Amino acid sequence: MSNLNGVIEEINRLRKEKNAVILAHNYQLPDVQDIADYVGDSLGLSQQAAKTEADIIVFCGVHFMAETASIISPDKKVLIPDHDAGCSLADTINLEKLKEWKEEHPEAVVVSYVNTSANVKSETDYCVTSSNAVQVVKAIPADKKILFLPDMFLGAYVKKVTGRDMEIWPGECHVHAGIKVKDIKAMKKEHPKADMIVHPECGCTTTYLYQSVENGNLPDDIKFLSTGGMIKHAIESEADEFIVATETGILHRMKKDNPDKTFIPANENAVCEYMKMITIEKVLKSLQEEVFEVKVPTGIAVKAKKSIDRMLEISPI
Ligand code: 13P
Ligand code: SF4
Repeated sequence: MSNLNGVIEEINRLRKEKNAVILAHNYQLPDVQDIADYVGDSLGLSQQAAKTEADIIVFCGVHFMAETASIISPDKKVLIPDHDAGCSLADTINLEKLKEWKEEHPEAVVVSYVNTSANVKSETDYCVTSSNAVQVVKAIPADKKILFLPDMFLGAYVKKVTGRDMEIWPGECHVHAGIKVKDIKAMKKEHPKADMIVHPECGCTTTYLYQSVENGNLPDDIKFLSTGGMIKHAIESEADEFIVATETGILHRMKKDNPDKTFIPANENAVCEYMKMITIEKVLKSLQEEVFEVKVPTGIAVKAKKSIDRMLEISPI
């Protein structure tokens, strides 16, 4: 038996014995995705954390995602296999900076992308993910000014689609900001028939939006989708080729679901080193030793949960 098979067998034994569920984000390493009970985007993972009957959640993703699971399911033990798996985007804002920003705009409603710490969520009115940001913002009373954080590309996209009065925090994810319009254009030239699917965190998004403002329309040759939306689109679309502008981990699942279709990364260097910190060996250690527990203090969790519940009410399971 190979070492990999041995690791998988032991993970399977322990997950049963301990009544554990393994949740993995779409950017996780292929081996990790393959042993997960559920693979999905931030919204899907929050929803799974909310409804699981497992005692332990092994969260294969980055720290803010595990915190979100702990906020939603405070009675479960939430483990992250590597506690250094952070997020450059979530790190662009903290509680103090948010409080200062709120003081400048006391009348505004705070909308935070899920890529934020539990502390930031505790000072947030509505949480959003890339799959429901437009829907949630549209549900906020039209006369309210909105502070949107921390991703400026997603914020620009939501502002354009909803036409709302919105201040946008100048945060970005180093992986997505590195995917440029020139990457997409070069790929499109090489593969003119390919569908273009873009995560709204990408650096290319704003440029496309400016172009669309000039044309009076959102570009119709490009689709802005969450990672979960991309997976679904790849299955449903009649196209044979896809240019995929997001972290390259998503290609594993796309290829697995659609063996006859071709998936081309817009930028093959778009790799999130935080997501890749989780390995299958660390998943096993996490189950064996019940490490590393992510527990949000109750006072913060209760406040933060309100923003997540508001989101889940508008965008239900
Ligand atoms: P999704 O919610 O689309 O999965 O995105 C999460 C993320 O971290 C993007 O980098
Ligand atoms: Fe954070 Fe970017 Fe990694 Fe997503 S890809 S987890 S936003 S650093």
